[in-house]
Amino acid sequence: MNVLIIGGGGREHALAHAITKSPLLNKLIVSPGNPGIAKLATCITCADEPALFDLIETAAIDLVVIGPEAPLVDGLADRLRLRGIRVFGPSQQAAMLEGSKAFARDFCDRHDIPQPAWQRFDNSTEACDFIRGHAADGHVIKADGLAAGKGVVVADTKDEAIAAITSMLDDAQFGHAGASIVIEERITGIEASLFAMSDGKHAMMIGTAQDYKRAGDGDTGPNTGGMGAVSPAPALTPHLLDTAWRNIVEKVISGMAQDNMPYQGFLYTGLMMTADGPKVIEFNCRFGDPEAEVILPRLKSDLLTALMAATESGLAHMDLRFHDGAAVTVIMANGGYPGPIKAGGVITGLDAATANDGAHAAYVFHAGTSQKDDDIIATGGRVLAVTALGHDQAEARHNAYQQVAMIDWPGVYYRKDIAR
Ligand code: AMP
Ligand code: GLY
Repeated sequence: MNVLIIGGGGREHALAHAITKSPLLNKLIVSPGNPGIAKLATCITCADEPALFDLIETAAIDLVVIGPEAPLVDGLADRLRLRGIRVFGPSQQAAMLEGSKAFARDFCDRHDIPQPAWQRFDNSTEACDFIRGHAADGHVIKADGLAAGKGVVVADTKDEAIAAITSMLDDAQFGHAGASIVIEERITGIEASLFAMSDGKHAMMIGTAQDYKRAGDGDTGPNTGGMGAVSPAPALTPHLLDTAWRNIVEKVISGMAQDNMPYQGFLYTGLMMTADGPKVIEFNCRFGDPEAEVILPRLKSDLLTALMAATESGLAHMDLRFHDGAAVTVIMANGGYPGPIKAGGVITGLDAATANDGAHAAYVFHAGTSQKDDDIIATGGRVLAVTALGHDQAEARHNAYQQVAMIDWPGVYYRKDIAR
């Protein structure tokens, strides 16, 4: 089979790595890819969508896997399917689970899926009045649309909530994505993420992870795309996992089918373990980043076979096997991320940091790098995702930091407390 992956981050590097292990694979192309992916696959940048369609035709692509949310929410999967191309990834309608918070909340209400109380607003006076008249001080204010992970404000006080409402609705801080907002009850508990793949009817679990969203050690500093992750998620005991799977994931897949927008693709469910059980914080219509980098190296089964089965309503007959034990991913970033960074350092130690001995295997996935002559340059905010396996979390953590210590460049920054 000839496979095309769309995207060019650490998540797509991890997907490419898993797919290249498949006996079904003939040729792998990644668009645009990155210098790490280029060691496994052919990387091709397409200037526009017609160029992408040309590439799919000339390379005789049998399956397209879409990594990031933006093309999914923009309907790329539908446009490919209209051309008769096999795609793994949700339709534009189904991707609304991530593309619109109000859509996702409304859907959960309709299908009795546990979540915080919420309300939608597009008028700031009404939204501010709602906050002023509410008994609770704390609320969560969210831009309805995609805001690159920045559209959520967890407000401790009414003043903070009102400031967030005004900047989204009156000052258009997130442009069109914030033209309407949802205000949510602020719930408390430990967070964990649950990953599934679905063929539209049947969901199969891929794994669980906990990510570290804050930039600084001890969960301090600004929110980021994720500074590290551990899998399995320590908070998801077998009982909670079973509850979340039955009350949330299975209901999402059956509810989406019932509502005539069958969900085919990866489904990422962000959960909070409240006193009343797991509740939905958010859905994403894709794999997570760095969650893909921490989960996929644990996979022993063939990912490509599962992706194909998902495009043929065949997941009910599949079963994925994983390495026992744990995996830990540490993100190596350029200092200053998520704010302004100074890019351009030459990375050293990359080859030495990749080890391959079973339960201790380590992987270096590229997120924000570029190639200059023979050098790999740290160009992005998040630059590398370093993953190691271990018999347990402590061992995986030890192994991951051992690999991290081999890699260096001027201005490198990473958290020291991932999985501690
Ligand atoms: P999101 O971008 O939706 O994942 O939200 C970012 C973070 O905000 C989550 O990881 C939670 O820590 C927090 N959050 C979102 N919604 C709520 C809520 N209703 N109650 C408490 N915390 C929340
Ligand atoms: N790590 C969070 C995300 O992929 O959205």
